[in-house]
Amino acid sequence: MPDSDENKDAASYGIGVPAPRKAFFLKGLDHMDWGIKDRMSRIFDSRSGHTVMLAFDHGYIMGPTSGLERIDLSIVPLVPYADCLMCSRGVLRSCIPPDVNKPISLRFSAGTTVLNELNDECLLDIEDAIRLNASALAIMVSIGGQYEAKTVANLVRTADWGARYGLPTLGVTAVGKELTRDARYLGLASRVCAENGATFVKTYYCDSGFETVTAACPVPIVIAGGKKLPERDALELAYRAIDQGAAGVDMGRNVFQAADPIAMLKAVRGVVHDRLTPDQAYDLYRDQQSGSPSE
Ligand code: R5P
Repeated sequence: MPDSDENKDAASYGIGVPAPRKAFFLKGLDHMDWGIKDRMSRIFDSRSGHTVMLAFDHGYIMGPTSGLERIDLSIVPLVPYADCLMCSRGVLRSCIPPDVNKPISLRFSAGTTVLNELNDECLLDIEDAIRLNASALAIMVSIGGQYEAKTVANLVRTADWGARYGLPTLGVTAVGKELTRDARYLGLASRVCAENGATFVKTYYCDSGFETVTAACPVPIVIAGGKKLPERDALELAYRAIDQGAAGVDMGRNVFQAADPIAMLKAVRGVVHDRLTPDQAYDLYRDQQSGSPSE
């Protein structure tokens, strides 16, 4: 122990200088614990308040989808341009080098493939998510589907674990064949996720009334890209979603199935972080395409 007589007297108390009181930059999360906010700050950029997540978890239900046959060849080169990676634990361990040091939104529920109707989804082990240093736990929630109660129970359980260990929960709204992707349905599904403890919600954009979906969801919403669209249309989709209150995108096929995935990811970043218009972002895409004159 140092001799107390030799200690320098504390004097820098900043008397009269108020301690900073700063609201957290993401909506609805002011009262969350430090670990949740730290991980959300890794996923979202505090300067723009937005995120570009790269989703390549499709194989866990679809097998080797187009563009995901070889994750090492198609996805790993995209990693530097993404804010967060969304994938299964199998692909994370086998294909993603740990030293890329990106936040991971881990697929935390599983159970059914495209060969079957959705049924008895289970959860992964929370210890495994912690071992993998996940930044978020992504849970599929099937509102209005036959297994609604099971998937909501999975969300509730995950949010409880998340609260215990400081891990954000991402509620992923599933849209079955029988459910309509309109603002009324997406608004209900997103709100139910938030009410049951999701830290943020992943849902789909819809052409009419999407601003009501984001307004009525008390936590941030990110949108999935959905099926592959022409590149300019996908940029327009991202633009409209952000313009109408989304906090980011969690895009897969419209990135890794694009003619030039790196150029596409850069263009999506332009929309999400720099508020480029669809035309400006499409110009950026063409400019960045490998083989373009300015490349
Ligand atoms: C979600 O449930 C899927 O597993 C994907 O993560 C999600 O649909 C995003 O990918 P995409 O932009 O291709 O729809």
